[in-house]
Amino acid sequence: MQETNSLNSVRTLQKTAMTFKILHFFLIFLVLGLAVCIVSMNMIRYFGTKNMASTKSSRFHPCYDEMSSLECWIKPPPTLMHTMNDTELFWRATFVPGIRQYPYRRVPKMAFMFLTRGPLPLSPLWERFFRGNEGLYSIYIHSSPGYELDYSRSSVFYGRQIPSQAAEWGQISMCDAEKRLLANAMLDLSNEYFILLSEACIPLRNFTIVYRYITKSWYSFMGSYDEEGPFGRGRYSPSMAPEVTLEQWRKGSQWFEVNRELALRMVEDVTYYTKFKEFCKPACYVDEHYFPTMLHIQTPHFLANRSLTYTDWSRGGPHPATFGKNDISTEFFARILGSRSCYYNHRQVYLCHLFGRKFAPSALGPLLRLSSDVFGY
Ligand SMILES: *[C@@H]1O[C@H](CO)[C@@H](O)[C@H](O)[C@H]1NC(C)=O
Ligand SMILES: *[C@@H]1O[C@H](CO)[C@@H](O)[C@H](O)[C@H]1NC(C)=O
Ligand SMILES: *[C@@H]1O[C@H](CO)[C@@H](O)[C@H](O)[C@H]1NC(C)=O
Repeated sequence: MQETNSLNSVRTLQKTAMTFKILHFFLIFLVLGLAVCIVSMNMIRYFGTKNMASTKSSRFHPCYDEMSSLECWIKPPPTLMHTMNDTELFWRATFVPGIRQYPYRRVPKMAFMFLTRGPLPLSPLWERFFRGNEGLYSIYIHSSPGYELDYSRSSVFYGRQIPSQAAEWGQISMCDAEKRLLANAMLDLSNEYFILLSEACIPLRNFTIVYRYITKSWYSFMGSYDEEGPFGRGRYSPSMAPEVTLEQWRKGSQWFEVNRELALRMVEDVTYYTKFKEFCKPACYVDEHYFPTMLHIQTPHFLANRSLTYTDWSRGGPHPATFGKNDISTEFFARILGSRSCYYNHRQVYLCHLFGRKFAPSALGPLLRLSSDVFGY
């Protein structure tokens, strides 16, 4: 009897020990599990947000935060930097709403697109021009790859550089850069007018006049004319037929202003691009012929056939005159502005140019001194 009793107590003891052992294991697992959980949660928080932050700054998420509101489709991308290559960018930029009526009050903006090599030496003049007109313009800068403009947060040029690639004068890479500027600017639905400028350009009128002149025009300001001789028709190659015939071949200044509809045609075009890329190489300067010819064929009735940018070719040679410090005076601008007439909405007018080039960095001081009297800003 005693034996069985003690045997029983030994068994119970063994049983309790077993239970404790299992509980022990269980606890260890629990603690381990918890630890793994906490560590991984922190890892996700740390690396996750880091990843999210980097995608946010490099990728365009139009409807990331407010999936349900119209606002996120209307407002421009938070940053101009992205990781799309040209194929992806052009595809994205050419999205067009099927319904042309905007379901909100859309204030059309002008996109000022600066095609530059390095710095913008005349930017203080432009700052003065833009001041007080927020909401009516946006700025895009395509510079040499790797070149970083250094502007403070208070500048209108702050954070306005777009992903850029090398562009060479007279080469198809120049047209690629122009398309890249257009496509980046098109990502902002409010942009309706697209103006191509260089670092040597200045505004010859104040913002109010520029805005009214461009928005009230029935035509886009793309130079497009038929020129006899070696620098015009002489650059045409019969290999471009049948897409482009000699009669359709046009020449025009690189510095254009186009509306959104024409910008769309320029970015989406593949047909003419292929022809020009293959058959218009120096001494055929593709940036003087591709868009003027293509738009002349597709939408001649939308073109003013003249550029808004004043350039002085009177000195002859392959490059226009550059104006420096000693050229700048009230008389100089009186001479170049308003001395010749042109057509604006079928009316003869004397205000033909809103921008001028080429101005050297040394011209900045004198320009700032006379801008309010002469240009009205
Ligand atoms: C862009 O990337 C896509 C996908 O990798 C590729 O098919 C396309 O050729 C690229 N385009 C350019 C211009 O590099
Ligand atoms: C520009 O030229 C085209 C083609 O010659 C013509 O159809 C169009 O009316 C011209 N634009 C203006 C404003 O005259
Ligand atoms: C713009 O220029 C015109 C003509 O020079 C002038 O009458 C007008 O007051 C100017 N507008 C502003 C906002 O400065």
